[in-house]
Amino acid sequence: MGRYETTTAKCILSAVQNIHRHGVVRDADNVTDVVLNAMSRTPDPRLREIMAALVRHAHAFVREVRPTEEEFEKAVDFLVRLGQASGPEKNEVILASDLLGISTLIVMVNKEEVGTDPALLGPFWRGNSPTCKSGEDIARDPGGGEPLEVGGRVVDREGRPVAGAVVDVWQASPVGLYENQDEKQPDHNLRGRFETDAEGGFHFRTVRPAGYPVPVDGPCGEMLRAQQRHPYRPAHIHFMISREGYRTLVTQVFDNADAAIESDVVFGVTPALSGNFERRADGKLHLDYEFILQPGVRRIPTPPLP
Ligand code: BEZ
Ligand code: FE
Repeated sequence: MGRYETTTAKCILSAVQNIHRHGVVRDADNVTDVVLNAMSRTPDPRLREIMAALVRHAHAFVREVRPTEEEFEKAVDFLVRLGQASGPEKNEVILASDLLGISTLIVMVNKEEVGTDPALLGPFWRGNSPTCKSGEDIARDPGGGEPLEVGGRVVDREGRPVAGAVVDVWQASPVGLYENQDEKQPDHNLRGRFETDAEGGFHFRTVRPAGYPVPVDGPCGEMLRAQQRHPYRPAHIHFMISREGYRTLVTQVFDNADAAIESDVVFGVTPALSGNFERRADGKLHLDYEFILQPGVRRIPTPPLP
């Protein structure tokens, strides 16, 4: 054996000696332990915890359901198609997580005990909504919709007004389309950014939004049809409220008169977010809502759309 071969052999031997022996699979019962052992030296503790829990739960799922190999192929094909159907215009992976209640569960497990219920950001928020003056109409094209007056108040956990908070609002049109889905609407229609006054108040004019279906032209649509589920979200207005020193609140207030109020396809409605769009003595439709901010870090999400 030449010098080169001897060195290579020594390297291989030392690598093998360093290999963590996680054991071998004997049967269906010990696979989980072998895999957990293989991942047990992950240096990042949070990654180690997440991956171990994922393996334990995924293996428990397989033991319970006992998928056939054909069923597993179908599942893999579904996941591949979710990725293929996703791009800058649409994200079917997030949509699948919305339709399975995972997105709402993530929001709920991260929610504080006191304070306004959070809800999904959704795919239609834009990061550069026009700055508006108090009372301004965000229906730059009302599209024949019914006028709606929205009044809000932003307070802290102790009920004290939060002045100077940025209230970013966006909603679908009276036919259930966001402006960027609809060539007939002007840019930034039904979007605006307001600032709360000294009493924590803000107010704007708009038109009553309509509910709308989530996209059903991809694998997620196939799943809804297989489960005999309708694709609708009840009518709602999105709010993102942020101020330095407070945790950013991302939520939606729903029209409780909508037929889909108890069957939101992405499970965003909570009793507290079910709003009352009421007709007042002035003959106009009004929505009033109080938002409670938690102390924390102001964080603005990355916009799903430009
Ligand atoms: C939305 O509220 O805009 C939304 C949320 C999830 C899926 C589709 C739309
Ligand atoms: Fe929406």
